[in-house]
Amino acid sequence: SDLYAVMGNPINHSKSPQIHSAFAEQTGQDLIYSAILVPLEKFKEEANSFFRNGLGLNVTVPFKEDAWQYADTYSSRALRAGAVNTLIKKEDGSIHADNTDGIGMVRDITINHDCAIAGKRVLVLGAGGAVRGILEPVLEEKPLEVVVANRTVSKAQALAIDFSDIGKIVGCGFDQIEGPFDLIINGTSASLSGELPPIPTSVIHAETTCYDMMYGAEPTVFNQWAESLNAAATLDGLGMLVEQAAESFNAWRGVRPESAPVISRIRDSLV
Ligand code: ATR
Repeated sequence: SDLYAVMGNPINHSKSPQIHSAFAEQTGQDLIYSAILVPLEKFKEEANSFFRNGLGLNVTVPFKEDAWQYADTYSSRALRAGAVNTLIKKEDGSIHADNTDGIGMVRDITINHDCAIAGKRVLVLGAGGAVRGILEPVLEEKPLEVVVANRTVSKAQALAIDFSDIGKIVGCGFDQIEGPFDLIINGTSASLSGELPPIPTSVIHAETTCYDMMYGAEPTVFNQWAESLNAAATLDGLGMLVEQAAESFNAWRGVRPESAPVISRIRDSLV
């Protein structure tokens, strides 16, 4: 069997082995995908040792920076994201880095949930690493406009400048948001602490789709808020998790697995 793995610390909560094993079974690919707990200063050694036989790695916290340093070449979306989550060993032994998070989210929104981004007014909340990772794939869908709003306004403005060559994008503070929007993506880590970014209710109208990049057994605080305002749809990031894995799987194996059965299986197992 061909070898793949995810490296992180901690790693025991990672759903990647479950997801990739399901993909392998579904597509009849002969591979083994394991989770490797890597000591904090040992990424390079562990990656060297893995790639003696292994073909591909996913990398999660806190090794994304190490993975960046480790790679020899980068996809354009990894360069734009400033982060990598997927390493691919090439025929010549060199290591290629990719970032599949953004395309995973876009595929979840546009394909799984049949919600076009093209021509839409899009509000993105947050301006950290998670948001940087999705902006190129979102802008490539050709939205009418992307507004990035963040607590620290300067970070939203800087992000908007970095991506302004791809499409119309502006940065602002939460109190400067002028709604409504067709699609709102919550990329702040506020949900983690059960907090809601302070945004006006006027951002939501009857046709608004809300997407929280976080997920859990219960609807996120942001999605509960959006539901209370009768948003057209409230989606969470579980589909993004599975789709980014599907994109990595496709990069490694040249086969695109079906995500829907895996999304429902994991949804059912959330507690
Ligand atoms: P990640 O990798 O999840 O993006 P990050 O780079 O630390 O993590 O970014 C976290 C994002 O969530 C930032 O946009 C942060 O706002 P600031 O840039 O002003 O720090 C945002 N965030 C975190 N907690 C928040 C809260 N309670 N309310 C609003 N925004 C919050």
